[in-house]
Amino acid sequence: MSTTNVSSARPELRVLVLHGPNLNLLGKREPGVYGTRDLASIEQELITVGRDLGATIDSRQSNHEGVLIDWIHDAAYPKDPSGSRVDGIVINPGAYTHTSIAIRDAIAATNLPVVEVHLSNVHAREPFRRRSMITPVCVGVIAGFGPHSYALGLRALVGYVRARVSP
Ligand code: DQA
Repeated sequence: MSTTNVSSARPELRVLVLHGPNLNLLGKREPGVYGTRDLASIEQELITVGRDLGATIDSRQSNHEGVLIDWIHDAAYPKDPSGSRVDGIVINPGAYTHTSIAIRDAIAATNLPVVEVHLSNVHAREPFRRRSMITPVCVGVIAGFGPHSYALGLRALVGYVRARVSP
């Protein structure tokens, strides 16, 4: 007897993971603060975690605010007419966290669920890192768990999206 229940099949989700300025230097950059793992190995882990969660990961890094904004727009309003909206975004905006009203507005304009992540505990560092322009337009924030913050953020986002689809 087949036990397959078609109605409970979980749909594959599409998640965009964005990394902001200087995160291309992970592994070399201030290892005492950000650790020794490079971005490629974090991206590999996210693909593996995504596979477990039923999510396809598209991971991108840019040092340029406008490029990050274009990717956020495209995730919600694809230029290619055959493209579809992603289901959510995990973003580490790097230093733009503390300065970028433009990235905040881009997220607000998309209506997509976004989880903000940071490797370091930004609240335990310099006072200027305690303020985030991005948090008010996000579902939540994960900070301080090193590279693991990304996988935690991805799990949180996928849980949030699935709960919204079938509470
Ligand atoms: C960071 C924290 C930011 O304050 C900093 O500018 C970064 C990295 C983090 O992941 O801990 O570039 O976002």
